[in-house]
Amino acid sequence: MESFWEKLVRPIMMLAPMADVTDAAFRRVIAQYGKPDVLWTEFCSADGLWHTRVKHGVPDAENALMDDLAFHVSERPIVAQFFTADPAMMEYAAGVASELGFDGVDINMGCPDRTVEARGAGAALMKDHGLAREIIRAAKRGAGRLPVSVKTRIGYARDEVATWLPVLLAEDLAAVTLHARTRKEMSLVPARWEHVAEAVRLRDAMGVSTVILGNGDVRDLADAQARVDASHADGAMLGRAIFGNPWCFNRDVRVEDVPFAERFRVMLEHARLFEQLLPRKRFAVMRRHFKAYASNFHGAAELRAALMKTESSDEAEEVVRAAGFHW
Ligand SMILES: Cc1cc2nc3c(=O)[nH]c(=O)nc-3n(C[C@H](O)[C@H](O)[C@H](O)COP(=O)(O)O)c2cc1C
Repeated sequence: MESFWEKLVRPIMMLAPMADVTDAAFRRVIAQYGKPDVLWTEFCSADGLWHTRVKHGVPDAENALMDDLAFHVSERPIVAQFFTADPAMMEYAAGVASELGFDGVDINMGCPDRTVEARGAGAALMKDHGLAREIIRAAKRGAGRLPVSVKTRIGYARDEVATWLPVLLAEDLAAVTLHARTRKEMSLVPARWEHVAEAVRLRDAMGVSTVILGNGDVRDLADAQARVDASHADGAMLGRAIFGNPWCFNRDVRVEDVPFAERFRVMLEHARLFEQLLPRKRFAVMRRHFKAYASNFHGAAELRAALMKTESSDEAEEVVRAAGFHW
């Protein structure tokens, strides 16, 4: 069955899922100012989704997890990412993604978060190949015709690409995104993209059509292109490069050329969308973005400090205008 993955022009440049960063508000802004080829939701607890919706009957309109799964048509193709160690939960969540009209379902098998790993989910799945397999199969059952992908790392405590990747590739996944570091390394050492090249070779040797995407330390689109060329991956996923730079995926705009007044106008548009779309989230989440937007110019430190004290987009606008920025 053809999925959106096959239709994408190579190299595929994608936005990484980042909890409390690539939420519905920021994704809407990114889709407008520099659209990646594929967007991902933040990770979502499959267990949490089942417990809130099925067990406790929380109406969707009052469920913060459903806020996290809301998206706008401008973000397509968009993939919903879930984590769990329970195949039944994954099947349920994948079914919800399908009902909500997502373009794909991704399984998180790389997250080092202690609360995620304590449940046996995220990166912990690299240590239990049998369960990882079951979870993939459950996701496929729930997802119906939606393509299923996995985002993972090169290993748990050491490089395990040669043994771990074949487990995933044998499941006929639509795509695998490889964050080129081990779980143990967190994000503390440089990503080793030679392992992305190794994953491509394994894929080719197995004769499967799974799309291989590299991730880790990509600075911008030019850097992504160079890494894709060297590794022969089908594409790259960029995460932290998007901080304060919704133009990151725009081939016609360099953020350095965007006047700060324009950057702050967009920052406030982002903040207003945040208030509108995510009313149950703390405004502190938005302040982390302010830090990233307000950097690299004379007087940035003072402006950042003032923005850190704001509690609303209106307050943030006052601060920016008081600093002399107008649009
Ligand atoms: C704040 C933050 C939140 C993240 N949340 C997720 C997540 O929800 N799901 C996931 O698979 N990876 C998550 N990641 C990992 C990123 O998707 C990506 O793999 C990692 O940042 C390396 O890519 P980069 O060097 O381009 O940032 C997160 C990373 C950061 C910095």
